[in-house]
Amino acid sequence: MEMSRKAANLIAASVSLKPDAVLGLATGDTPLGVYKCWIERHAGGEIDFSAATAFNLDEYRNIAPEAEQSYRRYMIDNLYSKIDMRPENRHIPDGLAADPATECERYEKLIAGCGGIDVQLLGIGHNGHIGFNEPGGEFVGNTHLVALSDSTIDANSRFFRRREDVPAEAYTMGIGTIMRARMIILVASGLGKAEIIHRALFGAVTPAVPASILQFHANVTIIGDAAALSMIDGI
Ligand code: PGA
Repeated sequence: MEMSRKAANLIAASVSLKPDAVLGLATGDTPLGVYKCWIERHAGGEIDFSAATAFNLDEYRNIAPEAEQSYRRYMIDNLYSKIDMRPENRHIPDGLAADPATECERYEKLIAGCGGIDVQLLGIGHNGHIGFNEPGGEFVGNTHLVALSDSTIDANSRFFRRREDVPAEAYTMGIGTIMRARMIILVASGLGKAEIIHRALFGAVTPAVPASILQFHANVTIIGDAAALSMIDGI
């Protein structure tokens, strides 16, 4: 919780300095603590999201926005229904878009049209993915459609009734979209993330570990619990 509070405070500070900040948001288990802190602070009148804009990193393809497992639904249930960010300022790729290429271009242009992302919140997958940028042979720049890796399908099958129900594809901001954010906050918790955190921060910068590209970003803060940071010397 200490970790979530730190991440929540850092991003909240950006919103109080710049009320119309553009936030990049993430789903998964790790950001939930951050959203809880914002909800509490919003209820206490300490944060005002009414002028802020947010873009989510990713969304499954071929999933209805109201489906229980959609990231749109996750954001509404875990954050948007409890804060005052305006619906027209909350952006998530459209999982039901008819044409993926058009949807990717629309999303990328929308981000650029809002002046780019001020602060991007990121989780990290056990395989080093950020957003749904899976390990591969290249860093893909802009928002694009990806085939989910087996390990991601395994990890995310906990949210579905059967593994076969996990969508095979997803939209994700690209590595370039993420790297253009002016500030990045990566949160990680648990021993299961210790090895990938170490590889991403201290290993080779390679598309085989997508998060390793963050070594080239000028303003990244990694916030983890003791277990996730346990392979880093001196912590
Ligand atoms: P998690 O997901 O927070 O549920 O571990 C992180 C991710 O896959 O980016």
